[in-house]
Amino acid sequence: MTYETLLVERHDAVTLVTLNRPKALNALNSQVLAELLAVTAAYDADPGQRCLLLTGSDKAFAAGADIKEMEAMGFAAAYAGNFFAGWEQFTRTRKPMIAAVAGYALGGGCELAMMCDFILAADTARFGQPEIKLGVGPGMGGSQRLTRAVGKAKAMEMCLTGRMIDAEEAERAGLVARIVPAAALREEALKTAALVAAMPPLAAIANKEMVNAAFETGLAQGLAYERRLFHGLCATEDKAEGMSAFVEKRAGHYTGR
Ligand code: HXC
Repeated sequence: MTYETLLVERHDAVTLVTLNRPKALNALNSQVLAELLAVTAAYDADPGQRCLLLTGSDKAFAAGADIKEMEAMGFAAAYAGNFFAGWEQFTRTRKPMIAAVAGYALGGGCELAMMCDFILAADTARFGQPEIKLGVGPGMGGSQRLTRAVGKAKAMEMCLTGRMIDAEEAERAGLVARIVPAAALREEALKTAALVAAMPPLAAIANKEMVNAAFETGLAQGLAYERRLFHGLCATEDKAEGMSAFVEKRAGHYTGR
């Protein structure tokens, strides 16, 4: 399948997706959403693909939802069309997804990065939720995911002032997993994605579900959920292979069974 707003490449078991609307700083319009949903559906369905890496350009991961598309949209159209609800589908991707962010990740761009399982940031990255300056607020999860990631004080400041934070501040606040020099971002992110892709695939899905459960449940329920997933993983061939490989001091070979 060919895409107009994305570049999609396979690097062995890694699907590398590059947002590609350079003239609009990768602003996220309906077409980007539709194409991303097609890519993630294909990714989830393909047993040969085991990690998705989402990135943008050197200047912008994405400068937000497409303001030009939203400019004429009133309440009735937004409400009746359940505008932005399609992004929930993106977050239902079961297999791992990493965001590699250089430059601007603003508004919907920051929110899209936060929908991925973790963020690797170039030292040029800038994160912000500037929607208040447009008379609105985050609409793709920013008020919730940013607050869970960085806490109320910083999330509230960012949402109320629109202030951008740089990569260092984002790392200190817990928004990004790691900072990488901009020139090395793509290579380093591909290496990290390849590491994830080499993991037993069922365990990768289960680890993602476990960590996400920490944001959806109370502690007792989350611990019980984790334990049940752990018990379930004990029934997989990959668990037998992983533990044998450790004992026999060799690399494991995983099949997703
Ligand atoms: C549409 C955008 C855009 C956006 C940039 N562009 N951001 N188009 N939607 N979110 C376009 C510009 O119009 C311009 O097109 C081109 O990209 C280059 O942008 P410039 O502004 O000329 O670049 P620069 O001076 O380098 O400034 C970069 C920037 C600025 C600081 C990132 O573009 C900016 O502030 N963008 C908007 C950021 C923002 O507010 N994002 C949140 C959006 S709302 P032309 O054709 O003029 O060359 C959102 C969720 C909303 O995400 C939820 C509501 C329900």
